[in-house]
Amino acid sequence: MSFFITGTGSAIPGLCVPNDALSGFLDTNDEWIRTRTGIRQRNILTSESLLDLAERSAIEALSLSKCSPLSIDMIICSTLHGDFFTPSMSCLLSKRLGINCRHMLDINMGCSGFIFALELAAAYFDSKRVKRVLIVCAEAMSRLVDWEDRSTCVLFGDGAGAVILEEGEGLIDLACSIDGEYENLNIPGIEGNSPFSQKRDTMPYLNMNGQEIYKFAVSAIINDITSMLEKNAIPPDDVAYYFLHQANIRIIESARHKLKQPEEKFPCNIESCGNTSSATIPILLDEVNRQGKIKKGDVLLLSAFGSGLTSAVALLRWN
Ligand code: ACO
Repeated sequence: MSFFITGTGSAIPGLCVPNDALSGFLDTNDEWIRTRTGIRQRNILTSESLLDLAERSAIEALSLSKCSPLSIDMIICSTLHGDFFTPSMSCLLSKRLGINCRHMLDINMGCSGFIFALELAAAYFDSKRVKRVLIVCAEAMSRLVDWEDRSTCVLFGDGAGAVILEEGEGLIDLACSIDGEYENLNIPGIEGNSPFSQKRDTMPYLNMNGQEIYKFAVSAIINDITSMLEKNAIPPDDVAYYFLHQANIRIIESARHKLKQPEEKFPCNIESCGNTSSATIPILLDEVNRQGKIKKGDVLLLSAFGSGLTSAVALLRWN
């Protein structure tokens, strides 16, 4: 027993920041950002909380699936850092939405978080502990990057994406991998002010070796996708849509070329949203779903990579 996705939702903050707006305080320009990454703009939190975005995306998903919040058995939130260290985002969200269930937890699996959340949900469905699950991926990347570091802050945006899962046979296969490497991509925690600490001060901002992560990303997604398709004897042409983590258009294009697939099968919104970490895939899924492009029976492939280093891939059948 597994699940179908029966509802999708998304929310982005009101403030849209085009590339040109960044040149006002950083040594960068629209041409560099566009040609290296495919990003033209991103949306950034101002007065809204991340929980506000999470709530908006969840309400949209609930409404599309026509599920009452009271019928939700589990909430999984994927976030690098919610508004609070504690309580968890899932606890706060349950109160906002009036969901009163026994299973709720936050996960931090970087940009692969949505697919790790699907894997977790599948285990709960298989053990018959749940009939309906809400997954929300909500990320405030603008709080985690160093706005003086042009090599990273231009890449990210804030946003939230949500799905409702209900019992069904929609999960064909899923695989997650983790290698524990952290030097090329990390965000240090705050060190506090313990008078006993002997650590040197580290800044709690995102550090990334872009070139190393680029190489990892291209090889991880191509390996993940090809082995998943081979294992399930599904030719690349039989996949209706490939939903890839939106980190860099060049990474997505290299996978597309390798699989010899047309552009329209690789939906993208990196141009308008930037990289919203674990929220990229559910936000994109919601966009494409609301355009009515996904048909019953369509096979969808989801593929992500990120800090951990992690990568994850899922094959789903749409209901
Ligand atoms: N504007 C102008 N110039 C810049 C900027 C900027 N914003 N950033 C860097 N540069 C300069 C560099 O200083 C360097 O200058 P130099 O040649 O004089 O030293 C030059 O541009 C080239 O820099 P590179 O780092 O070599 O550029 P590259 O082509 O590798 O692109 C990028 C960098 C876009 C970060 C790319 O490596 C990449 O996308 N990597 C993968 C990142 C990724 O996928 N992250 C996702 C995981 S993290 C997550 O999702 C949470």
